Amino acid sequence: MKPTGSPRKTAFIRSYGCQMNVYDSERMADLLTSEGYEIIDAPGDADLVILNTCHIREKAAEKVYSELGRLRIGKAHAQTEGRNPLIAVAGCVAQAEGEEMIRRAPAVDLVFGPQVYHRLPQLLVRASAGEKVVETEFPTEEKFDALPNDRRSVTSARAASAFLTIQEGCDKFCTFCVVPYTRGAEFSRSPEEIVDEAGRLVAAGVSEITLLGQNVNAYHGVDGAGRGHDLPDLLDTLADIDGLARLRYTTSHPRDMTQKLIAAHRDNDKLMPYLHLPIQSGADRILDAMNRKHTASEYLTILADLRAARPDIAISSDFIVGFPGETEAEFEATLRIVESVGYAQAYSFKYSPRPGTPAADSDAQVPEPVKAERLAWLQDLLERQQFAFNRNTENVVLPVLLDRVGRMDGQLAGRTPYLQAIQVDAPMALLGTIQQVRVEKAGPHSLFGVLAGGAVPVNTETRITLLEGMTS
Ligand code: 5AD
Ligand code: SF4
Repeated sequence: MKPTGSPRKTAFIRSYGCQMNVYDSERMADLLTSEGYEIIDAPGDADLVILNTCHIREKAAEKVYSELGRLRIGKAHAQTEGRNPLIAVAGCVAQAEGEEMIRRAPAVDLVFGPQVYHRLPQLLVRASAGEKVVETEFPTEEKFDALPNDRRSVTSARAASAFLTIQEGCDKFCTFCVVPYTRGAEFSRSPEEIVDEAGRLVAAGVSEITLLGQNVNAYHGVDGAGRGHDLPDLLDTLADIDGLARLRYTTSHPRDMTQKLIAAHRDNDKLMPYLHLPIQSGADRILDAMNRKHTASEYLTILADLRAARPDIAISSDFIVGFPGETEAEFEATLRIVESVGYAQAYSFKYSPRPGTPAADSDAQVPEPVKAERLAWLQDLLERQQFAFNRNTENVVLPVLLDRVGRMDGQLAGRTPYLQAIQVDAPMALLGTIQQVRVEKAGPHSLFGVLAGGAVPVNTETRITLLEGMTS
């Protein structure tokens, strides 16, 4: 902590990749704030710059090195003025590359993985003394215990919607994926700890919580009495929190989509009708080579059950095209499954070989131009589906959580229950509230709406059925 009277130290944190990194960055901000740092919006004047990195695809990792190139120049300039800003690399690239990072980017002072950021204050003391620090262990339990609670409510009060990590790591070992190596084995936080954190968020004005985990539906927390809690149990417990209006969870694996969790989509009124359930490919041979442990038809059965439980549920997915050995016919199987599902939204990627993962060693790599062409076909279809889903909500009145300032003066931005982004003509005073909104116009990626009928009290969001006639 700096002595009173001296100027406050400043820190800038840039987050790459998934929502779990966004959550981790917020927790680092909390930790630094409690250490006397001020969090600022640009790297230029910062005493500490942290890049919280993503290693999932090559492009994501390369972005980090370009940014480090720019930061090196900024650091050299600052040194001519007698300042010595520290550059830290956190997250999954840090975990995967460790020492190598400092060799490749010597301006970096500090490299630490996703499981040790609670030690940041000690690491900073060492880095400030001139040591090049590399910390990439996996003591998960210790991290959540060691993070400060008190500041969380302060920094998170920025928004009405917040993330809460309940589970980390992955034991699935899909053959394309680095997560089991960078985030480590599966670990679930205790329900008490999660309910505590959720309560603090709600007390700070949060009304929507998205539970996060690389395999969130594999959640299996144990309470103080030694009892096990799965995700539907946890969702039930959280739904009892007064003032909490909406619950979401991401990302799920089809193998862990139990009947009990599917039933929660029917029975838990606070659980929003949206599910991100990645399939990756529509071809069984590829799913097997990916080690996904399910077939395309098993996935479709899960969706049928979900739609029986909650007819208007919006479905989202991740897809990989050009996995090693993928034939034209296998790619077409992916297009067919997309056609049969009717996605509300989706993410799709060209396969990117990740060092250390089994698929990267395959000698059946698909040529880049083929991957690019397949991705373009798939994205075209997915875009059309998203637009169709959005158009289906035109003229419908939906409860919208207005959680951000809008694009234009006099507008607020928010999310429908189906996670559609929407701009609404609404006064600033309604920021953070849930309002009934009539969707006036649907675009491919977002909606525009007007206020229609007032505020929606917590726990009374209306259920509607939109998907009729949309799926084929
Ligand atoms: N190449 C391309 N996409 C990948 N993903 C994960 N690993 C890779 C890879 N090596 C995608 C998957 C996953 C999402 C988070 O990123 O679709 O669900
Ligand atoms: Fe990666 Fe598969 Fe685990 Fe998801 S389930 S994090 S894709 S290994």
